[in-house]
Amino acid sequence: MTNDDWSKLVDTSDEWITTRTGIKERHFAAPGQAASDLVKIAAEKALEDAGIDKDEIDVIIVGTVNADNNYPSTGNWVQKKMGMKPVPSFDISAACSSFLYGLILGDSLIKSGAAKTVLVSSAEIMSQIIDWEDRNTCVLFGDGAGSAVLRESDGEEGILSSCWGADGNLGDLLVQPAGGSAMPPTEETLARKLHTVHMKGNEVFKHAVLRMQEASMKAMELANLSSEDIDLFIPHQANLRIIDATIRRAKIPLEKTYITVDKIANMSGATIPVSLDMARREGRIKEGTTVLTSAFGAGFTWGGLVIQF
Ligand code: UT7
Repeated sequence: MTNDDWSKLVDTSDEWITTRTGIKERHFAAPGQAASDLVKIAAEKALEDAGIDKDEIDVIIVGTVNADNNYPSTGNWVQKKMGMKPVPSFDISAACSSFLYGLILGDSLIKSGAAKTVLVSSAEIMSQIIDWEDRNTCVLFGDGAGSAVLRESDGEEGILSSCWGADGNLGDLLVQPAGGSAMPPTEETLARKLHTVHMKGNEVFKHAVLRMQEASMKAMELANLSSEDIDLFIPHQANLRIIDATIRRAKIPLEKTYITVDKIANMSGATIPVSLDMARREGRIKEGTTVLTSAFGAGFTWGGLVIQF
């Protein structure tokens, strides 16, 4: 769906969306597709790419803000739809940071010996939870899913460092107010569209820059690396201006920064795995490439990792 498509539905323009966000187009799931359906597509491709059989997976982690149901978890539906073994399956709710949270958790499970092979995915169907009449938010998001298969490495490669954090005091700045136990769904909440994304964009913007910069710098510091040692930076892609401000503050060159926001918009937690896959397919990530990634999202939550491929 292009910016021009949106301009036929709300009072916006390609010019406003492009200059304020860098977004040109986004993709939406088909009617009837649930988060688990998107994970299934991504996970099957990831398993095939890794040459690993689904029966080797011993933990399933899914990050999402729009789970199939409040319960069972989307991870459980993925297990069923993919015909997987009865291994532990669960969801992570960390919004745009959920894939990085999943990687950090999966890495810890492997390092502790609790798991050998972990499937980490994020799937978001933002098109179902945006207010299609609110130009402040509707144009910003896209749908998608990405998956990674994590396994112990015997060489130098792998997750070299990670950091994560959250600040619940700022949760109200980006929230889906209704639909949970704090505000169960009623006719009134539906009429007031309280089940959709509510965001104070300006405020979120400032925190996003600060936390993405901090997480990026911390991850590099923990890996004993500087931005000169990083081959590719894959930031969460909410807004090109957030990415610009982050790389200026963290002193990461633009040439090393991988931009996908123009093509996929903000896919919340799915942004980073989809961008990682796009970078691999374009040859920007090869064996030996050192990738820095960082994210910021509702919660607030944030995280950063350095990954040696
Ligand atoms: O995924 C992690 C969480 N999300 C984010 O990190 C997003 C963070 N925030 C942002 O990216 C930006 O704040 C936005 C893109 C949401 C908004 O950009 P902004 O430069 O902060 O604009 P603004 O909110 O200050 O709004 C400026 C004007 C307003 O009009 P008035 O009040 O000045 O007359 C808005 O009504 O732009 C108007 N506006 C629009 N105009 C045309 C807001 N959305 C649109 C639109 N088309 N789609």
